[in-house]
Amino acid sequence: MLVNGKPQRTIWLNSEDQSVLILDQTQLPHHVYIQSLQNVQACALAIAEMQVRGAPLIGAAGAYGMYLAMREDASDKNIDFAYELLLKTRPTAVNLRWALNQCRHKLINTAISERMHCALKLATEIADDDARINFQLGRYTAQILQDIWERRKHSADRLNILTHCNAGWLATVDWGTALSGVYQAALNNIPLHVWVDETRPRNQGASLTAWELKQQNIPHTVIVDNAGGHLMQHGQVDCCIVGTDRTTARGDVCNKIGTYLKALSAFDNNIPFYVAAPASSIDFQIENGLTEIEIEERGHDEIALMKGRDEQGNLVTISILPDNTVTKNYGFDVTPAKYITAIITERGVCNASKEGLKKLFPEHYKDNQHAESMV
Ligand code: MRU
Repeated sequence: MLVNGKPQRTIWLNSEDQSVLILDQTQLPHHVYIQSLQNVQACALAIAEMQVRGAPLIGAAGAYGMYLAMREDASDKNIDFAYELLLKTRPTAVNLRWALNQCRHKLINTAISERMHCALKLATEIADDDARINFQLGRYTAQILQDIWERRKHSADRLNILTHCNAGWLATVDWGTALSGVYQAALNNIPLHVWVDETRPRNQGASLTAWELKQQNIPHTVIVDNAGGHLMQHGQVDCCIVGTDRTTARGDVCNKIGTYLKALSAFDNNIPFYVAAPASSIDFQIENGLTEIEIEERGHDEIALMKGRDEQGNLVTISILPDNTVTKNYGFDVTPAKYITAIITERGVCNASKEGLKKLFPEHYKDNQHAESMV
């Protein structure tokens, strides 16, 4: 997508020194800062510190991390070391495991002398596929938005979409999951407007979604996390679209903390609630999202401190809690399938159910109805 009018991805190979370049998301929206990752340790840190974040992008970054590891030492031992180091950075988004499993499987079956090239090829493929898949998924989303608009346009001057967290191109290699369809619908001249949940504690909505929507000239308004229900009760939301960090084989959706409450409000107000889920975000090995997904817990400072610009334009961090206040910082929650109108994938749109997903991804389901694992 565009940054200051120029096409940009979130992660790519530095053709000068063959390191990996990332758009450092901890600097947004105030600075566009490109950072070079020279080794797997730097890559693991960038994932853990959320310089790169968002489920599909974490997967691609993990693959590039395996490449950086192979650049230094292509031994079996280093494959295992890099795999474990990268896997433990963030536990909830399944894309990381999905990408790392592919890399490890391929690398251990490749001659040591070929491993660096093999890892780079794989990381490039995973990144390119992610961009292509999200574009494809967005075509289905754009069609859904077009259909809603056809029904609404006689009585409304714009289509109001609510989104949570950042499920735009910054959360992927390009295009985004939930926002890919928004961008494509805008290109199709649907007059849309996005309500952007600020998404405490890290404010991915306010800092990242608002920034990327502005860069693409999409009308949007940032709201506090608790405002969505009120807007829905007053007819100000036509549909909700979110991404997912891990969707189970029966359609339970784990996504950024607060997603569940938005889905409940949407359900109560008869507003469609869509989840954009590339196959790399679907964990076909598990069914029950509430009991089988590890929910990442993050640090106290994310709740206690706020970062922003002061009146002179300097970046400052301030504390907003009384000293020694205890906090609990869950990164994600699970929305049960029954609250989800449909799941949008690169293979089409389906019910949030085992039957629905099985129609689109039959290769992952055995006849005895148990989900089969991916690589
Ligand atoms: O903690 P983050 O910023 O990595 O969380 C990101 C989200 O929850 C996104 O909504 C999710 O990854 C799905 S969209 C690409």
